[in-house]
Amino acid sequence: MKVLAISGSLRSDSTNTALLEAISRAAPESVEIRLFREMGDLPIFSPDLETPQPPDSVRRFIEAVDCADGLIISSPEYARAIPGGLKNAIDWLVSGEAVIGKPIALAHASHRGDDMLASLRAVLGTVSSRFNADIFLRRPLMAKSPGEIEAELSRPQSVEALRDFVERFSAFVESSQGEM
Ligand SMILES: Cc1cc2nc3c(=O)[nH]c(=O)nc-3n(C[C@H](O)[C@H](O)[C@H](O)COP(=O)(O)O)c2cc1C
Repeated sequence: MKVLAISGSLRSDSTNTALLEAISRAAPESVEIRLFREMGDLPIFSPDLETPQPPDSVRRFIEAVDCADGLIISSPEYARAIPGGLKNAIDWLVSGEAVIGKPIALAHASHRGDDMLASLRAVLGTVSSRFNADIFLRRPLMAKSPGEIEAELSRPQSVEALRDFVERFSAFVESSQGEM
């Protein structure tokens, strides 16, 4: 099973990216979770650019989503909303077929950010019929250093939460494949 992980933060020490990396490490061999690291290369969405030959970065992004059996997204809240880069990436998917019916789950690296989460759930529920809001992993990593993040994610409670999240999401992806 191939899963694409998308972080809504481009920050080098991003807690959301670190959470996705930890999720990837917690996955069994049968579940390959790859982080999409090129969100910052996507141009600002315009329907005028949606041609049969879109910009290379867009083509690569759409192909990555298309090839994935599921998506896991983890994002910070900016100004009580979805960060522009992540919303822009999602906008590139809206009129294509790659995301329709794609299993999607959310993770989140902060105890805050509920306005962004509500908005992102609404957006993902609009673009995919298989966005599953019940599968959700939240760890309180906000403002933590890489060392503190590692310590928090190594706690037995975190390790169990990460494994449980991966298990539930991969089972959901498998059950979705059965429906196709
Ligand atoms: C431009 C900007 C706006 C932010 N707005 C909010 C906000 O509205 N609510 C909130 O809880 N945190 C806000 N934050 C804090 C981030 O959401 C928080 O630091 C998050 O953990 C950063 O995620 P990252 O470590 O993955 O980059 C904001 C941070 C920035 C840089």
